[in-house]
Amino acid sequence: MKCRDRVSDRRCRLNIGIIVYSQSGHTLEVCEQLKERLIRESHSVTLEQITVVGGRTPTTKEFELGDKPGIEPYDAIIFGSAVEAFSLSAVLARYLNGLGSLQGKQVACLVTQQFPYSWMGGNRAIRQMKKICQSEGAMIRATGIVNWAKSRREKTMAAAVAHLSKAF
Ligand SMILES: Cc1cc2nc3c(=O)[nH]c(=O)nc-3n(C[C@H](O)[C@H](O)[C@H](O)COP(=O)(O)O)c2cc1C
Repeated sequence: MKCRDRVSDRRCRLNIGIIVYSQSGHTLEVCEQLKERLIRESHSVTLEQITVVGGRTPTTKEFELGDKPGIEPYDAIIFGSAVEAFSLSAVLARYLNGLGSLQGKQVACLVTQQFPYSWMGGNRAIRQMKKICQSEGAMIRATGIVNWAKSRREKTMAAAVAHLSKAF
């Protein structure tokens, strides 16, 4: 069911999965706020984390995915990740590339980045996420970038949470 198709129907609810890879906890923090907000809007929300076996040095290309949450139960999915080296984290990229079909799924994409402006990696990471998801048939409903630099953190986090929570 798509809430957008039934805007006036107050019983309209989605089963939403928030699936995140967060190495130092920033993206997870945003996702936790997003979860609270979506629950307040009466959606059913599950937050799941992607893990790497034995942890990971961010720069290494050698890693093995541990927990790989399935997407089957969800009507809508929000994928969350850090920006790494002006790109999508290799962990999220590998997870998404291994997912298979996203046909019929509504998807939103979220990234956090340290630098203060979205052109410093955030935009590119979002483009990469969208491309993989769309190639598997997902409908992209919204995207969000949080700049973790202190001066912009609160503002961009509030904006992303508000924007993504209205996506479905
Ligand atoms: C190896 C590495 C590369 C990074 N590259 C970028 C970058 O290109 N641009 C940026 O703004 N932040 C960059 N960052 C910062 C992270 O994107 C930022 O701290 C993010 O919020 C971490 O999210 P997490 O705590 O959920 O893992 C990088 C961090 C690491 C560890």
